[in-house]
Amino acid sequence: MSSSDPERKLPSEAALADMSREDLVKLGGQLDGVELVEYPDPWPVKGTRAEKRAERLVALWFLLAALAGLAFVVVFVAWPSDYVAPDQPGHTLYSLYTPMLGLTLGVSIGGIGIGALLYTKKFIPHEVAVQQRHEGGSTELDKATLLAHLSDAGARSGIARRSLIKRTAGLGAGAMGLGLGVFALGGLVKNPWTDSESKDSLWHTGWKNTDGERVFLRRATGNPEEVVLVKPEDLDAGAMETVFPFRESERGDHTALAHALKRSDNPVMLIRLRPEDSARVVKHQGQEDYNYGDYYAYTKICSHLGCPTSLYEQRTNRILCPCHQSQFDALTYAKPVFGPATRKLAQLPIDLDEETGYLYARHDFNEAVGPAFWERKS
Ligand code: FES
Repeated sequence: MSSSDPERKLPSEAALADMSREDLVKLGGQLDGVELVEYPDPWPVKGTRAEKRAERLVALWFLLAALAGLAFVVVFVAWPSDYVAPDQPGHTLYSLYTPMLGLTLGVSIGGIGIGALLYTKKFIPHEVAVQQRHEGGSTELDKATLLAHLSDAGARSGIARRSLIKRTAGLGAGAMGLGLGVFALGGLVKNPWTDSESKDSLWHTGWKNTDGERVFLRRATGNPEEVVLVKPEDLDAGAMETVFPFRESERGDHTALAHALKRSDNPVMLIRLRPEDSARVVKHQGQEDYNYGDYYAYTKICSHLGCPTSLYEQRTNRILCPCHQSQFDALTYAKPVFGPATRKLAQLPIDLDEETGYLYARHDFNEAVGPAFWERKS
């Protein structure tokens, strides 16, 4: 039987308003054909040691969530997060930055979840009820009695007198919320423009030409010390190679060499077009001389969300990003032709060093590399 059953006797609106929560619980059950087989009070004798133990256990998890939430904020703001090369002091701390963020936020969210689960298990009455299902939506009466039923369960759990649980739950949820807020608004907490080094690294990549020193294109050999520079004849027509910046002044400097290979906006795709494709190239305004003959250099960092666009399909001259399937046309200044990316890949101006026969970058990119969010100049 349901509340829409015409045969059941319904209370008037005034009578409904006068009914206590307990009456409403019973009425709701009767009207909906719910038979409460068991509806025990979880703690019939109040204030026992077992009840207090259960209360402290729940509070402990909420407290843990609070401490972890606060620890997340401290790690986010104060933990050293600037890159430190593996052989430099401070590398271990730097490398723990991301794991610590994950750990503290995970424990905070997990603590709230486990605390809420334990509270339900230990303090909410575990009823056993049998109910006939009915068609259609619920009437106002059904809603009122259901709400009464739920709040009755809450009242029976004794939440009103469990101030320890209420306080720690509030603290845990508050600290977790603070952590999530800092996570979302972190850019306002951590200002990347405050020190000149990070400011420079936002505006420039490792291809920046400092003190007039040439920045050559080097291969990724897997060993920072093994420097192999790129000559035009190293690439077959239709081939692609990933290259990184190299300065003679950095030769033998392990930290600088390793950093050049690790810096996220340094990888560049050097593409040698086939001569028949080269003849069809459309150049971007202001970048007409960025290529060296059939050789074109584009950043590997996708303009959508920054994945490495590692695939170059020689047959179609398309550069593919595996993350969300964006495609860029290498014959039309790497402009996006498919997928979610909306901006062209940044092009690096390259030339040949006549003296050594190696390719070099004439200057840094003159546009944002990767997702433009951080580096947009307007
Ligand atoms: S990051 Fe390349 S398509 Fe999304």
